[in-house]
Amino acid sequence: MGTGAYLPAKVLSNHDLERMVETSDRWIVERTGIRERRLAADKECPSDMGAAAAMMALERAGLRSEELDLIIVATTTSDTLFPSTACQIQQKIGARKIPAFDLQAACSGFLYGLVMAHHLVAMGSYQTVLVVGAEKLSSIVNWTDRNTCVLFGDGAGAVIVRHSSEGGRLLAHDLGADGSHGQVLMVPAGGSRIPLTAENIGEGLQFIHMVGKKVFRLAVDAMECTARACLEKANLPVEQVSCVIPHQANMRIIELLADRLKLPLKRFFIHLERYGNTSAACMPIALHEALTEGRIQPGERILLIAFGGGLTWASALLEW
Ligand code: ACO
Repeated sequence: MGTGAYLPAKVLSNHDLERMVETSDRWIVERTGIRERRLAADKECPSDMGAAAAMMALERAGLRSEELDLIIVATTTSDTLFPSTACQIQQKIGARKIPAFDLQAACSGFLYGLVMAHHLVAMGSYQTVLVVGAEKLSSIVNWTDRNTCVLFGDGAGAVIVRHSSEGGRLLAHDLGADGSHGQVLMVPAGGSRIPLTAENIGEGLQFIHMVGKKVFRLAVDAMECTARACLEKANLPVEQVSCVIPHQANMRIIELLADRLKLPLKRFFIHLERYGNTSAACMPIALHEALTEGRIQPGERILLIAFGGGLTWASALLEW
């Protein structure tokens, strides 16, 4: 019914990063496609960014926050371990005392949430659901590690899911996970297995740890497989997809995916050169921008494809 996005004002360019770690604009652009990313202000949390995106989505849907009856927030960087970011957003947007919870599926979280919302609305359990993806990855990035700090950014996106008789539907979806590869992309400390102590903070265990090359290969394979599974469920040939919104982690991952799906790159909506990888926020931000830029027209088929830590993957085929 409506989409919204919020990107923090502060821009961190590749040239800024050249002054922080041993890297170069050329290396980052060639190996990732990223030119700049946004950083939240010190006191700006995922709930602040998510609330701003939610208010925009409500406005574009022509709805008031009192009309919501469920809030799902996908985030890996919740304001606090608990209460959830969803509860914070409920309060910040002035929603009623409706159920609100966070969903953790790393970068695939928003699509997991969208599919949950779809089914709950289809079953008639809830009528108007807010699904948010909000991340402050800058808070878990090691700004002295050039292998990871060039990749991530902050932001939030939101959508309102509601039954509509005017068309617009989720035609098919595919969700999956493989816990056996959990170690290749993780934040080791800060959970109950390794609670934060002065010692492990000194070792940087509170930051994102990633085996980049392995993640790269797993991402391409998982994104291709989930996209094919989703299209097969809908019995839709890939050529009939007008716009693909892929997870925005690395331009080379997107190029390989386009190649494997035999779709021209111009059908992919790509914003990673401006924002980097915003994890669970990437998909709703991209959907909002694709709509506002006129890249999605009524009746067209849109394929959303995500991949993230866990490992998790997800795809959803929408008819707009
Ligand atoms: N600047 C300059 N040199 C660098 C940088 C940098 N920022 N980072 C790494 N290098 C160096 C490495 O140290 C290495 O040097 P060496 O050969 O002397 O050891 C060299 O560049 C090559 O490094 P690789 O790791 O082989 O580079 P690669 O081409 O694999 O690219 C990258 C690294 C960009 C991380 C890539 O592997 C990647 O994108 N992986 C997937 C990342 C991803 O998708 N993550 C998240 C997905 S899920 C989610 O979003 C949570």
